[in-house]
Amino acid sequence: MTGSNGQIGTELVSALQKKHGQDSVIATDLKDNENSEGIFEFLDVMNFERVERVIKKYNVTQIYHLAALLSSSGEKNPALTWRINLDAYLNILQLAHKHKIEKIFFPSTIGVFGPTTPRINTPQNTSFVPGTVYGISKITGELWSQYYRNTYGLDIRGIRFPGVISYATIPKGGTTDFAVEIFFEAVKNKKYDCFLKADTRLPMVYMPDVLKATLDLMEAPKEDISISYAYNISGFSLTPAELNVAIKKYIPELQITYTPDKRQKIADSWSETIDDSLARKDWNWSPAYDMESMVKDMLDNIK
Ligand code: SER
Repeated sequence: MTGSNGQIGTELVSALQKKHGQDSVIATDLKDNENSEGIFEFLDVMNFERVERVIKKYNVTQIYHLAALLSSSGEKNPALTWRINLDAYLNILQLAHKHKIEKIFFPSTIGVFGPTTPRINTPQNTSFVPGTVYGISKITGELWSQYYRNTYGLDIRGIRFPGVISYATIPKGGTTDFAVEIFFEAVKNKKYDCFLKADTRLPMVYMPDVLKATLDLMEAPKEDISISYAYNISGFSLTPAELNVAIKKYIPELQITYTPDKRQKIADSWSETIDDSLARKDWNWSPAYDMESMVKDMLDNIK
């Protein structure tokens, strides 16, 4: 796994260790991981030779390529974002072909959508003119996934994640980060200044459903997987104001203020709700958590 210290990586490493055994998972990242046990290698995903050395050293059979810069941090350094999010993925695909890697997991995002995309019930196949480098790099990555499947028969599986809500590792540099920050601020300081407007509706998913989706998709029979670019999925959609009301049931003193910044424009170009019927049909995607059950579980764990 690349990017194993990130928001999804941290928890996916443990889930994969549980499933396949601790010694079957090679966690890699630019920075040391102090929290988890198991095999770890420092890895700069842009270093082709080093990635190849790790693949050979451990006889890697599957790659979960999670290393990426997100929508907001990506805008601060577009060229670096392209190198990490796209060039590094192309390295992975070339090496996967060369070393006969059995399966690849590629996380994509609702960031592939843009102002020309229908915002309600966004279809699987639609208009993609993303406004961020993150979105441009991820939609291009999706196209390369499909190309490598069609041309070389690589088994690549992808998911377009909406905002991911979790308590173990805090996301950094994303537009949907408010939906995690608000919980920690609510528990600690009883107040939160949100960087999006109160009525900005965005699709979200809770981490246990992210883990389930990833494991289920990777386990699904190859013949059931009809696309290799990335499946739409969603757990629920919410606005900051609705999330505030849901958290206030447990923390009535919570005060929320709104100071929209540059991220508002990004959020306004993304979907409000997602059509994830293809994922439901191909590999039985079905989220266990709605907003209410997610809020309760988040607060129980953070407290
Ligand atoms: N959470 C991501 C972001 O906000 C969306 O994929 O950038």
